[in-house]
Amino acid sequence: MNPKMGNLIYAGKAKTVYETDDPDQVIVKFRDDITAGDGVKTESLVRKGYYNSVISAKFFEVLEDAGIKTQYIKLIKPGYMLCKKLDMIPLEVITRNIAAGSLLKKFPFTEKQELEPPIIQMDYKNDEYHDPMLNDSITIALELATKEELDTIRSITLEINSVLKEFLLSKAILFPDFKIEYGFDSEENIVLGDEISPDTCRLWDAQTSEVLDKDLFRKGEDGVMDAYMKVASLLLDETDIAKWNVEF
Ligand SMILES: Nc1ncnc2c1ncn2[C@@H]1O[C@H](COP(=O)(O)OP(=O)(O)O)[C@@H](O)[C@H]1O
Ligand SMILES: [Mg+2]
Repeated sequence: MNPKMGNLIYAGKAKTVYETDDPDQVIVKFRDDITAGDGVKTESLVRKGYYNSVISAKFFEVLEDAGIKTQYIKLIKPGYMLCKKLDMIPLEVITRNIAAGSLLKKFPFTEKQELEPPIIQMDYKNDEYHDPMLNDSITIALELATKEELDTIRSITLEINSVLKEFLLSKAILFPDFKIEYGFDSEENIVLGDEISPDTCRLWDAQTSEVLDKDLFRKGEDGVMDAYMKVASLLLDETDIAKWNVEF
């Protein structure tokens, strides 16, 4: 039986977190809101939350199967994910396999340059300060995480990158970069939280280099939802579609 949806705990820019009758579990509702540039550009895209939730659920299941601890319990129905309640660490952990986006504005990398080993960058998740890039000593001084926690986060993140890069390549999608967030569960384990979706990843068609992620929205291009739907249709197999009753 699914737990009852309780009070709203937090409404962010794209998702809303609700209490449940189990104090260790929350329901994350994926909304249709999409924002860019620190929330300056805001819109609502019909069924964005629906597709992001199934894409995220698929990624979390692939990671769980590979032995990585995540918040994921189950997708109640598209749009609504039952998760472990986490005490979130305010870090945006960014992994880059191919140079794109803000990295090119800040450093002299060449567009689409392969980054091997991958770059791991951590930004302070703080809208007021515009998510500045951190280094370990700033992170430790701000007491956002300890040195040991940072090392754990980096090592889990590299594993996540390997698992998802391989999974996506098997679906003919390249994985230039992605952003994830971690939190502590009730047993103080560091656990992957939040979402992994075209809102938080760069995803490129491996054959055509077609952009299949939020960069389309950032650049004001058409077909944002067509791209997200294409990602969902490439990632989900027949069993997932039947299990979650996904409609395209
Ligand atoms: N499992 C979880 N338990 C509690 N909070 C979570 C969990 N997963 C994600 N969150 C938090 O919930 C919020 C998700 O909503 P989102 O719209 O992405 O917010 P934001 O605008 O802050 O990025 C984020 O602040 C995220 O850190
Ligand atoms: Mg967010």
